[in-house]
Amino acid sequence: MKNIFITMEGPDGAGKSTQIELLKKYFEGKDIEVVLTREPGGTRISEAVRAVILNKEYKEMDYKTELMLYTAARAQLVAEVIKPALLQGKAVICDRFVDSSAVYQGMGRGLGVEQVYKINEYALDGLKPILTILLDLDATEGIRRKKNQAELDRMEEESIDFHKKVVEGYRQLAELDKDRIYKIDATLPVEEIAKLIREEVDKRI
Ligand code: TYD
Repeated sequence: MKNIFITMEGPDGAGKSTQIELLKKYFEGKDIEVVLTREPGGTRISEAVRAVILNKEYKEMDYKTELMLYTAARAQLVAEVIKPALLQGKAVICDRFVDSSAVYQGMGRGLGVEQVYKINEYALDGLKPILTILLDLDATEGIRRKKNQAELDRMEEESIDFHKKVVEGYRQLAELDKDRIYKIDATLPVEEIAKLIREEVDKRI
């Protein structure tokens, strides 16, 4: 069996956490141990970096700094959690990964997708997801869903134009890398999305 490393992507409010939980149960039903993790975060150090990145007080944060911080949090997560778990034969499902940087920093902030992947190469050390699920949702709907939830963080407070760029960016990435990125309409019923994901996962493992 291949290294089962799956990443879940999508704009804020697309329903990633719900689908991750359902996929975890599916693997456990197959007696595959699962490690769930999230970005930015998932380790002590990465969570500390997350607190800096998302702090609304830091309005002065330069976009390059933002990119480096996301990448630093990722480097620690890869080294401390993801690689060791894969080596032990566990499946790893990560809520957001390098594509979030490609889209939010590369496209949303305008730093360039190539540049983002290049910097991340160093942090990833050859690691690549076997499947990336993209929950596709219009920016306005995503923001509407989030506003009903908790207080917004520094990224979520960005303008609607920024979030539209993010959604468009995800769609472009999915077109460019159809083999790896599987796009699903996030407005479908939860159980239907879960079924599509399970079918796609089965093809890859
Ligand atoms: P997250 O906690 O996943 O928020 P949500 O629950 O809304 O998905 O991510 C926090 C924010 O960080 C989110 O707005 C997306 C953003 N982000 C980036 O801009 N670049 C990145 O590389 C990652 C991983 C996240």
